[in-house]
Amino acid sequence: MKPKMVIGNWKMNKSFEEADDLIIAIGEQIAGLKLETGVVLCPPFIYLELATDQAEEADFSTGAQNCSEYKNGAVTGEISAEMLAKLGVEFCIVGHSERRKFFCESNQTIAKKADLLLENQLVPVVCCGEVIDERKANRHFEVVEKQIKESLFHLSKEDFESVVIAYEPVWAIGTGETATPEQAEEMHAFIRQLIEKKYGTEIAYSTYILYGGSCNAQNALELFSQPNVDGGLIGGASLKANDFVAIIEAAETTVKEN
Ligand code: PGA
Repeated sequence: MKPKMVIGNWKMNKSFEEADDLIIAIGEQIAGLKLETGVVLCPPFIYLELATDQAEEADFSTGAQNCSEYKNGAVTGEISAEMLAKLGVEFCIVGHSERRKFFCESNQTIAKKADLLLENQLVPVVCCGEVIDERKANRHFEVVEKQIKESLFHLSKEDFESVVIAYEPVWAIGTGETATPEQAEEMHAFIRQLIEKKYGTEIAYSTYILYGGSCNAQNALELFSQPNVDGGLIGGASLKANDFVAIIEAAETTVKEN
């Protein structure tokens, strides 16, 4: 089993002081654990520099929660992939369901963001996932397939190798209702097979496919034990150092036990 990856998506939470404290606390708690698990913190933009400063010494990397679909220029209020790269940010979440819902982001917008991130050597963490009505109508595979194909399958093999995918069923995000390990595994295996068909076996198996949606310290071990679940994108449970580190430890355990 390859090492896992655990990404904390803080969303729009924390004051400056709280962000500083949390970054330091996570750094301290994971120091000396000799982690194989890749840990990424994604605070709001204005706290990214706090995180990148600490990341140099600590065992985590830093990610943004979004970037502009435009390269630069007269785009008021936006942050470019290039700006993130210059700050030392290494990852960027794109296409989160909250951005799709509140900011009308389409698969085409997400494709443009992924391109700009790759041009600037950042890792796009591309989110996909169905809403509850789509699952009830048994359309979840079709929906996720379309999201992945339209946002990523224009990429060359070489570029696709840098992409991380996060499967986040929308009905599980922030609801306390987690996908069962079987539901997660079934979708992850489906996504991996889509990648295999397009880019071949080697890339399919090396691509990280993370699960997100009410993943916490209690259920992480079981979810991460599924053969096609390569780690997690963690929202609520990434806001407390103890909870987040417990999830990282679960990730570490699943790899060491296999
Ligand atoms: P949650 O959020 O862990 O709070 O459900 C996950 C996410 O939205 O990335």
